[in-house]
Amino acid sequence: MKKIVVLTGAGISAESGIRTFRDSNGLWEQYRVEDVATFEAWQRNQALVIDFYNQRRKQLYEVKPNAGHLSLVELEQKYDVQIITQNVDDLHEQAGSTRVLHLHGELKKVRSTLDENLVYTLNGWELKKGDLCEKGSQLRPHIVWFGEAVPMIEPAMELSAEADIFIVIGTSLNVYPAAGLVYHVRRGTPVYLIDPHAEMLQGVENLTVFRELAGTGVPKLVKQLMESKV
Ligand code: OAD
Repeated sequence: MKKIVVLTGAGISAESGIRTFRDSNGLWEQYRVEDVATFEAWQRNQALVIDFYNQRRKQLYEVKPNAGHLSLVELEQKYDVQIITQNVDDLHEQAGSTRVLHLHGELKKVRSTLDENLVYTLNGWELKKGDLCEKGSQLRPHIVWFGEAVPMIEPAMELSAEADIFIVIGTSLNVYPAAGLVYHVRRGTPVYLIDPHAEMLQGVENLTVFRELAGTGVPKLVKQLMESKV
């Protein structure tokens, strides 16, 4: 089976009703990264950080996967499909994708501030100040904040290097190390990019760009791949 590796960003969930970060009206227009998405912010104002992620989590319970997420599931009938997502939502899993690696954490999970290996699935949407891990420390969102290490980047690099086809969907490719994964793909591997604002990727040889929304672009590419001989 040929291996397809798919790197997704906020754009694939936009048509489900989740705001992206850097588009106009994106989340980082309303909030400052330094106020809600760094460890320093957490130390300064836990209530604000908890509330920011509670709101995101609450919304996640109200949305559904869209045609973009759903058509990626179809690819599994013919290919070994590995999704690497920068998204903290679980819409790929809800759609039915079986192999999903989360680079930036998961909204529905929380973890200990004392021992990062103590990760829990939160019951419902609300994390509260005073919710403690089994060792007695405050639980924090299971999110990779700016300035923190990205523990899943090593396996993501290895997977990218194994890809026979690499697909990038709905990401501004502004945030590293995720944005560098495309450069771990073997030379000459077909790379597809689906994003209404896609720009050419310097140094990627075999690139095809679909300058359109995930909800239409992904089903189109999936159909093409399902009908192709490779
Ligand atoms: P961005 O908000 O930076 O980029 C979203 C991308 O999605 C843009 O390139 C848009 O053109 C595209 N887009 C918008 N609507 C789309 C649609 N319907 N279909 C397809 N594409 C669409 O989001 P990311 O690149 O995912 O990290 O951001 C990367 C990281 O920065 C996030 O994981 C998050 C953020 O800060 C953390 O919070 C740790």
